[in-house]
Amino acid sequence: MELQEAILKRRAIRRFTADAVTDEELQQLFEAVRWSPSWSNSQVWEFVVARDRNLIQKLTETYRMPKGLNPATKCSLAASALIVVCAKTGISGCYEGKESTKHTNWYMFDLGIATQTLCLKAHEMGLGTVVVGLFDHDSCNSLLALPEGYESVAIIPIGHPAVEVKAGPARKTVAEMVHLDQFGQKMF
Ligand SMILES: Cc1cc2nc3c(=O)[nH]c(=O)nc-3n(C[C@H](O)[C@H](O)[C@H](O)COP(=O)(O)O)c2cc1C
Repeated sequence: MELQEAILKRRAIRRFTADAVTDEELQQLFEAVRWSPSWSNSQVWEFVVARDRNLIQKLTETYRMPKGLNPATKCSLAASALIVVCAKTGISGCYEGKESTKHTNWYMFDLGIATQTLCLKAHEMGLGTVVVGLFDHDSCNSLLALPEGYESVAIIPIGHPAVEVKAGPARKTVAEMVHLDQFGQKMF
């Protein structure tokens, strides 16, 4: 699959078929993810694959919304695997244990890149994913018995898509998001 096609056609998939994702598929996925770039090649990512049905149920119970159900709830409960994207904290963006820029928690940036690698690779393999960020991270950390110094960041239900790929929600145009030399000056 061409990269351009993968970028344009990857969608958040919230309905999966009953076919389970295999361990071999997941291994192939992670073989791509491990080549993602990260701060100083620190690779602070850790991935916990939830397969146990009881654990999947409990993780899904941590999903939250200001009102109503998180839209990923149903597919998460039915998924054959949830990938919990976690990080070792205090390393990415840090020198001698201290944050080295105005921006902190660069592990979020590294994990974002790794997550996009995962979602694009999954799409290339014919698998569907949805990134879930709105959940109770502390409850999730406890369920996974994450050691001190590690944080869960996102949960990715993964499966074989049961829906046709549609155009995604609208995006900003290039003209709306690119500036030339000074903020507010149009380039395109
Ligand atoms: C960091 C992040 C957090 C997200 N959290 C949720 C979530 O909690 N629940 C959900 O259903 N979708 C979630 N999404 C999916 C977005 O809603 C979806 O990617 C966006 O609407 C664009 O649609 P597309 O992925 O089909 O292009 C999240 C996506 C990202 C990148």
